Amino acid sequence: MKNDFLKYQAQTSPFPLAMEISHAKGSYIYDTDNNAFLDFVSGVSATPLGHNHPKVVNAIKDQLDKYMHVMVYGEYVQKAPVELCKLIAEHLPNPLDKTYLTNSGTEAIEGALKLTKRITGRSEIIAAKKAYHGNTMGSMSVMGYEERKQAFRPLLPGIRYIEFNNEEDLLRITDKTAGVILETIQGGAGFIEPQNDYLTKVRKRCDEVGAVLILDEIQPGIGRTGKLFGFDNYNCIPDIVVMGKGLGGGMPIGAFTASTAHMDLLMDNPKMGHITTFGGHPVIAAAALATLKEITETNLMTEALEKEQLFRKLLVHPLITEVRGKGLMLAPIMQSVDIANTVILKSQEAGLILFWLLFEGRAVRITPPLTISNEEIMKGCSIIISILDDILES
Ligand SMILES: Cc1ncc(COP(=O)(O)O)c(C=O)c1O
Repeated sequence: MKNDFLKYQAQTSPFPLAMEISHAKGSYIYDTDNNAFLDFVSGVSATPLGHNHPKVVNAIKDQLDKYMHVMVYGEYVQKAPVELCKLIAEHLPNPLDKTYLTNSGTEAIEGALKLTKRITGRSEIIAAKKAYHGNTMGSMSVMGYEERKQAFRPLLPGIRYIEFNNEEDLLRITDKTAGVILETIQGGAGFIEPQNDYLTKVRKRCDEVGAVLILDEIQPGIGRTGKLFGFDNYNCIPDIVVMGKGLGGGMPIGAFTASTAHMDLLMDNPKMGHITTFGGHPVIAAAALATLKEITETNLMTEALEKEQLFRKLLVHPLITEVRGKGLMLAPIMQSVDIANTVILKSQEAGLILFWLLFEGRAVRITPPLTISNEEIMKGCSIIISILDDILES
């Protein structure tokens, strides 16, 4: 199987982990030799309820028994996507009340960028250095990492960059700016939180010049930071919020939400300004609805903050310089890139799944399911610490 994987399935890097998967349940993934791997990554922040959560699986099965794809997005009234959009609106502050469902995070970013142009009639987009918003052409255009996008130029014109958390840079947002797009917590850059009311200040500057503020909640959203949306922590309400990853509970989804007045611009002049065949798919929406209900109706978000404290207590070691992030979006920063690589690869051998961050080589990704238990946290952290001890002694 591994040979066929390498031969027939397109690869994203020369060194895939290439673990052969048998099944997954709760906080564990099992390989075809029936080895159990404790999952501290959750499909890169995409399975907040762990693997195959019964409520998500049942919602999918119930919907499968009724119907799958029946029509392109936006034509027919289908219960699961309607209820999902309604529940999202109920949990977002005013005036964010209308949601467009897409197939992936990057596609939701594309929609948000298009909507920004329609709202303002302007075209300049301001993004952050070291930002990651996805890999399609528009999203890649607002990626703040030249090395990864150089080969794909020309990309969208009119993109300018500011440094995240740099307040002086806010003056680059002017009345020529259509919109500012930021991750609420920068992910690929190394789990960088906004400091000093930065997002409130960005909001204020956008209001001064009439620019739209887009917050990318694809990774921090859906409970990971202890609140349903990351921006709930930082006293800032965007004009457009973009979701993905965890929203699907393990199924592929994206979404962007804006006010009705704004979102309705996409349906006219030109008509069908943003269309998709599979966006809002009823099976995916059913999975997302079950996920969102579970996260909003239980204590998982509060517990995420308690679990963060446990991680912080356990991840203390001379080779860890700091632990960045919030809630269950944590990144211990190692003294060097080599140490981070060793920890990630040796953990895999010891039955613990860890992963990298895109642009910060010293970081080790810890984004476990919100359902992870304290015992599992202790077990995984002891693996990390003993690998670090070995490195220190060698
Ligand atoms: C902050 C952020 N934005 C956008 C995306 C793109 O989402 P997707 O991979 O579903 O297209 C990601 C994915 O890693 C992300 O972390």
